[in-house]
Amino acid sequence: MLSHLLHQRGIDSVVIDLRLRDDIEQTIKAGVLEQGTVDLMTQTGLGDRLKRDGFVHTGINLAFAGELHRIDLHELSGGRSVTVYAQHEVLKDLIARRLADNGDVRFGVTDTTVEGIDGDRPIIRFTHDDEQHRLDCDFVIGCDGSRTYTRFLIPQGEIRTDFFRQYPFAWFGILAEAPPSSDELIYAHSDRGFALISTRSPSVQRLYFQCDPQTNPDDWSQDQIWDEIQARVAGAGATLKSGTIFQKDILQFRSFVCEPMQYGRLFLAGDAAHTVPPTGAKGMNLAIADVHVLDRALGAYFEAKDSGLLESYTRTVLHRVWRAQHFSWWMTSMLHRFSDATDFDLRRQLAELEMVVNSPSASKTLADNYVGMPLT
Ligand code: PHB
Repeated sequence: MLSHLLHQRGIDSVVIDLRLRDDIEQTIKAGVLEQGTVDLMTQTGLGDRLKRDGFVHTGINLAFAGELHRIDLHELSGGRSVTVYAQHEVLKDLIARRLADNGDVRFGVTDTTVEGIDGDRPIIRFTHDDEQHRLDCDFVIGCDGSRTYTRFLIPQGEIRTDFFRQYPFAWFGILAEAPPSSDELIYAHSDRGFALISTRSPSVQRLYFQCDPQTNPDDWSQDQIWDEIQARVAGAGATLKSGTIFQKDILQFRSFVCEPMQYGRLFLAGDAAHTVPPTGAKGMNLAIADVHVLDRALGAYFEAKDSGLLESYTRTVLHRVWRAQHFSWWMTSMLHRFSDATDFDLRRQLAELEMVVNSPSASKTLADNYVGMPLT
């Protein structure tokens, strides 16, 4: 996305990725785009397939204590909504567009090293198609995910990496060939633990249920999975439409932020700098928001020789990052079953959920956070 945005300003970039294009385009990840992400894609010419194949959701449901409650995102947030459109589809759109614009994108690179981020001309070396390459750069942007190499280029005394929380549970995720069980997402609190009913298309559904982090998906039969999710939403009156499960995965739950997100000529964006648990559906949206700020900062640098926005990059983006950290943690802690939870904790969770659905200001807080802050 950053490469695409910079191209529109006439700034050149080279994208290098360890993974192969097919692999990137087929890996199932997130699926909920905030309004700001949708707007940015649409405004920069990436909206065609999104408009055609994405699903605008104007509400979500919270299921607890035997009832289903709708949060009207659109009404509560002043006309904003989210769009269900898979992350790998976003990547397909971006890659196709960069290549159509003659962008320089190299897949399947190896032996990547970066030197000199504290000087004016950092160098990236890598191997591609059995040839060694050297890039002399103005800036290096580390968008290399939670298994980042670039974050470790920042000297230890210059970065804090102790903003970290590991949760004692994970999500078991499935993709199934089945019709949708619900028009809108259902976030379910239950005695058996959390479950989420999401979707990808009219014929492919994405569902999750809270599980032990050590769970081996192969130990679960199709019937057992359907029965477990059904048991978690039945109390609220939801009936699943089951089908063939064709993918199973376990999503670990972590919250992490590094500060600062930059050093010299290196800037980190997305999961390389911060990770959220998936409950708030914020991960990809935060990455997009980071590079939106970087695009403007690099634009000011190259177009007006003004490095002010680059210098304030971390401060600018951390506001949104910590807002999303709080929201993801809040949704997680309100909806999941903690193994050490007492009956007091359970009643307190239910009281919180009741407040969220019954108090207009609490509903609005959830809606505003869910649709996301505008990209400014
Ligand atoms: C998804 O469809 O993958 C999804 C939806 C909502 C979430 C998390 C994941 O909160």
